[in-house]
Amino acid sequence: MTDIKDHRYSHETEVTVVGLGPMGTALAEVFLAGDRSLTVWNRTPGRADGLVAKGARRAATVAEAVAASPLTIVCLNDYATVRRVLGSAAGTDGTRTLVNLTSGTPAEARAAADWAAGHGLDYLDGAIMVPPPLVGNTDAVFLFSGPRQVLDRHRATMAALGDLRHLGADPGLAALFNTALLGMMYATLNGFLHGAALVDSAGVPAREFAELALGWFMPVVLNPAGLAEQASGLDDGAYPGDLGTMEMNLNALEHIARTSAEQGVHTDLPRLMKELAEHAVSRGHGAENYFAMFELFKLGPSRD
Ligand SMILES: NC(=O)c1ccc[n+]([C@@H]2O[C@H](COP(=O)([O-])OP(=O)(O)OC[C@H]3O[C@@H](n4cnc5c(N)ncnc54)[C@H](OP(=O)(O)O)[C@@H]3O)[C@@H](O)[C@H]2O)c1
Repeated sequence: MTDIKDHRYSHETEVTVVGLGPMGTALAEVFLAGDRSLTVWNRTPGRADGLVAKGARRAATVAEAVAASPLTIVCLNDYATVRRVLGSAAGTDGTRTLVNLTSGTPAEARAAADWAAGHGLDYLDGAIMVPPPLVGNTDAVFLFSGPRQVLDRHRATMAALGDLRHLGADPGLAALFNTALLGMMYATLNGFLHGAALVDSAGVPAREFAELALGWFMPVVLNPAGLAEQASGLDDGAYPGDLGTMEMNLNALEHIARTSAEQGVHTDLPRLMKELAEHAVSRGHGAENYFAMFELFKLGPSRD
């Protein structure tokens, strides 16, 4: 195993990027565009050619890459690869920071933080909330968790990436928020697409549904201000049912499930939503409003 102590701590560049897939390349491009001196490493070295042509320095090994800069940003396909790749760069003089922007779970992030601490690396975990073309925009959100002072120390360098948000000291928080937001995104997209499939079953083009769903329903019925007001009760567990109850919502979910079956479109999604509401009613939330589902989701999978 190569130890980065074998390399001189010359701080030859300001920042290193390890991993040059579409996302790592986008990160590296932003640093170069901001005139930051940059070292790069990738398993397939040829992927660095374009960056090297623009002034990046290509490291021959990961150990050399990590040794070259006070700040190393790693962006690989998963945490197992991060561990495998950085294992060969283990051992530092305590002056290196590792910022891991690889997607994963909170437990993987916490394990990576422990591993880094054991190898004398300051560590921040992060999640990138935009696709590669948007990296570098001022509203491109990057979530971070771990010691705030580590982010503050490198904020000037990383500010070029976008809107950097620190969530807390627990290194798992960035991954947790990332998955919570992505879960919301997929649930919303599936709701829209299932609705489009329902109207398609009657021969209506999806764009007509989209006009009504996205042009009127989302902004008016599912508007963020209205949802935020209702969500403000979540932490108090207050779900007054005076304007609509879980029982009433269960009725609507029953109609969606039956209509889906009648129209011959997929029934799993509405059936699951109906079963969840039935479960909430069976736990005594029938007279409360729909936000009482929060209590059910907090229970975990196996509790009746
Ligand atoms: N792309 C997006 O829209 C997006 C958005 C947000 C977050 N992210 C996250 O950013 C991270 C990187 O994503 P990406 O889009 O750049 O593509 P990716 O396919 O997830 O990762 C590609 C990188 O992983 C490396 N890699 C894969 N297997 C490896 C192995 N066994 N050993 C060493 N290196 C290995 C690749 O090296 P080679 O070039 O040698 O194959 C390349 O550097 C992921 O965690 C992803 O979830 C991506």
